[in-house]
Amino acid sequence: MKKVGILTGGGDCPGLNGVIKWLVKTCEDPGPNEVPYDVIGIRDGWKGLVRGDPDRILPPFADFGEEGYFKHLNSAEVRPWDRQGGTRLGTSRTNPFNPKNDRSDVVMRNIERLGLHAVVAIGGEDTLSVAANLAARNIPTVGVPKTIDRDLAGTEYSIGFETAVNVITEEVDRLRTTAGSHSRTFVVETMGRHAGHLALQGGMSAGAYVILIPEYDYDVEQVCSLVARRRKSGVRYSIVIIAEGAKPSGGDVVQRTSGLDDFGHVNLGGVGEVLAQQIAKSTGLETRAVVLSHLQRGGTPCAYDRRMARNFGICAANLIHSGRTGRMVSFLDGKYTSVPLNEIIGKLTLGDVEREYDTVLYNGKRTILPL
Ligand code: F6P
Repeated sequence: MKKVGILTGGGDCPGLNGVIKWLVKTCEDPGPNEVPYDVIGIRDGWKGLVRGDPDRILPPFADFGEEGYFKHLNSAEVRPWDRQGGTRLGTSRTNPFNPKNDRSDVVMRNIERLGLHAVVAIGGEDTLSVAANLAARNIPTVGVPKTIDRDLAGTEYSIGFETAVNVITEEVDRLRTTAGSHSRTFVVETMGRHAGHLALQGGMSAGAYVILIPEYDYDVEQVCSLVARRRKSGVRYSIVIIAEGAKPSGGDVVQRTSGLDDFGHVNLGGVGEVLAQQIAKSTGLETRAVVLSHLQRGGTPCAYDRRMARNFGICAANLIHSGRTGRMVSFLDGKYTSVPLNEIIGKLTLGDVEREYDTVLYNGKRTILPL
């Protein structure tokens, strides 16, 4: 039987296991006149193809343990996975094409030794850039978009986004009761890297008073005066959502730690605390910061992510069955489709400030339909 490898790379999020489940089920039982494939789960993203021993493929239900990187997956094992968060295959931010430590030869040799007919990579831009590089070297790869940042080009949806928006909404609901009781302002820091989709959609869903996004530098005085004005009008508390990549006019992003990851990204984090202190100092209002951090990527997938994961997993199997590799599954204009992997790399999509964001009120626009 021909083999297909599957891996998850980059930050985890709810919905990954659903993609794996539906890829396995569709490969195992692709429908009349189609040849079934045997799916091999690869542990810890691209690291698995750097470190793993291709002569050691574990059976379904086996634990990977410390040494195992490959195992057969079957529908009996993956049946309950679509309800589970995280990734049952593990993940890493390993970049085999890192110019400082290029291990792409090892990856290609291991794919050959495993006898993989195709490799499915579920990930964001970093993980999929590796898939695109491999495709350019004639290794058949298929990408599935995943990132709570929703900043991937070539698709209007990436797995994990809606669940993260739900988490923001639920956590802000929780903060409201305590904020109101104590008459406190809360600054809530969300993830999203350099894209504001998560903060903006999460902020609008949660009904935040002020939303600050990386695409538009904020004026600290304007934020403070908005908060002070609201308090003066008699409202006891305010919720300010700030994306981790947002920055004040003339200022810079705040980094959690110095240094870069394997794909050259900085670690963002801490801007919420900085802003909370500025608001407290300027308005005299008691202000606290809450960093939602990895809670946004935790827990079980929401209904929308379960459905998208199912359909993206099936689409990935369909691409393999039709021999259309070197492509990423995508959702565009309300339809499932696919786009060439090499066309999405290096083109992150940021929020459209002109269309979506009110740069005076620092919130979603109030004009949506033409007036
Ligand atoms: O890309 C997804 C993401 O959650 C970003 O929003 C965030 O900046 C980053 O990953 C955090 O990475 P890590 O989980 O490695 O701390």
